[in-house]
Amino acid sequence: MRRITRALATVLTAFALVAAALLTQAIAAQAPAKQGTRQVTFTKEVAPILQRSCQNCHRPDSMAPMSFLTYEDVRPWARAIKQKVAAREMPPWFIDRTVGISKFKDDPSLSDQEIETLAAWADAGAVRGNPADLPPPRQFENSDIWHIGKPDLVIKSAQHTVPSTGSDWWGDYVVETGLTEDRYLKAVETKPAAGAKKVVHHAVTFLLQDEGEPDLIGRGPTQGAGAGGDAGGFLNEYAVGKNGDVFPEGTGRLVKAGAKIRFNMHYHPVGEETVDQTEVALRFYPKDYKPKYYIQASHTGDFDDLDLPAGMDNIRSDGYTRLAQNTRITSFQPHLHNRGKAQCMEAIYPNGKVEQLNCVNNYKFGWHIVYNYVDDVQPLLPAGTMLHVISWHNNTASNRYNPDPRNWVGFGQRSIDDMSFAWVNYIWLTDEDFKAQVEERKGKDVRQTTQPQR
Ligand code: HEC
Repeated sequence: MRRITRALATVLTAFALVAAALLTQAIAAQAPAKQGTRQVTFTKEVAPILQRSCQNCHRPDSMAPMSFLTYEDVRPWARAIKQKVAAREMPPWFIDRTVGISKFKDDPSLSDQEIETLAAWADAGAVRGNPADLPPPRQFENSDIWHIGKPDLVIKSAQHTVPSTGSDWWGDYVVETGLTEDRYLKAVETKPAAGAKKVVHHAVTFLLQDEGEPDLIGRGPTQGAGAGGDAGGFLNEYAVGKNGDVFPEGTGRLVKAGAKIRFNMHYHPVGEETVDQTEVALRFYPKDYKPKYYIQASHTGDFDDLDLPAGMDNIRSDGYTRLAQNTRITSFQPHLHNRGKAQCMEAIYPNGKVEQLNCVNNYKFGWHIVYNYVDDVQPLLPAGTMLHVISWHNNTASNRYNPDPRNWVGFGQRSIDDMSFAWVNYIWLTDEDFKAQVEERKGKDVRQTTQPQR
């Protein structure tokens, strides 16, 4: 009998221990979910996030009006930071993470955990933490250098004075290249004047030249010349933090003798008068070298019959571009104006299969962002594929970029008119190269449809 009692006692003790362990586990599992009970500090958790995703713009002489280098800089902005990152307005990166391709070059966007960390930090009083936890400061490159190597030609835009206050300025300057012979372009980079980065919201350059006859694979008239009828089309885009575009070996663009460059500028006053003179640098292939493929930027899925009634939201338009050749797409950039709200691009294969490529679900007119695909996820699409671009506009007062929600708006060149298409960079591939590249992809799990959490 005594033995039975002892055994029972042992069993009961074991039960109690297991129950206690389970209870502790349950409490432990709950704790991180309760924001505010977790001690998130600036030095340990917040600073590394700011270094990676924010400081390139938020530092002296860069683009943003406030610096986020030190605790003292950041502390007063804790609430605003929480709000901006939770709304995914900062860093500026507006790709819908729940659909399509998820791997991009130079992606500064935050994971859900990082957003939660910043929010928890702000909610718990924006604590500094142990100074010893602070990572070494991020080093920023000397802004005098060209990332593409030594340029063969540097072209300066006109000098532009941005007043200390006032509204944003959008406009164009056209400048001669002075080029006296045709040359194939290997790399291109755009850069605002030293000290003027903070006023240049974006600089987009276009080549103005006659395209002439095709001589590289894929070189042909671009579908729908760029705004203003520039046959040479889109050259390069700059937003802060952008280095240069170096074209893959064997691909290039022809810059013809006598070509001109159009600088499309967006300036933003920052509280002190600032003079800018943006430059674009070109590096060419050697004179005797002719690349095999033409890399081009093209209007895609244009829909020019826009009908945006006053006071209406979620107005959808659909545009289509059929790919005449096998195509490898390297980047996606929605182009909408002030009323733009969202855009998706999907591929309709010749066999009818539809694949969602990407969506921008929170379009902001002030940010012309080129989303460059990582090489091994660049869409490979067979000839005959239809690119379908779907855009949504918001012509109500709830759109803060809307200059006047009482007006009907249609297609036009001015910012106050609207547009609906995507800029897409791509190369055309021969059947042989296309097959080889598709083959090379097989077995690799590169087309994830959800964003991996960092
Ligand atoms: C590509 C440049 C860029 C990056 C990267 C960037 N910002 Fe900004 N940020 C700006 C600019 C420019 C402004 C001011 C104008 C505007 O709001 O568009 C700004 C404004 C802000 C504001 C002020 C909003 C207000 O209330 O006035 C906050 C807060 C902010 N950013 C937080 C962040 C955080 C946090 C990150 C990183 C997670 C970040 N930003 C990354 C460029 C950037």
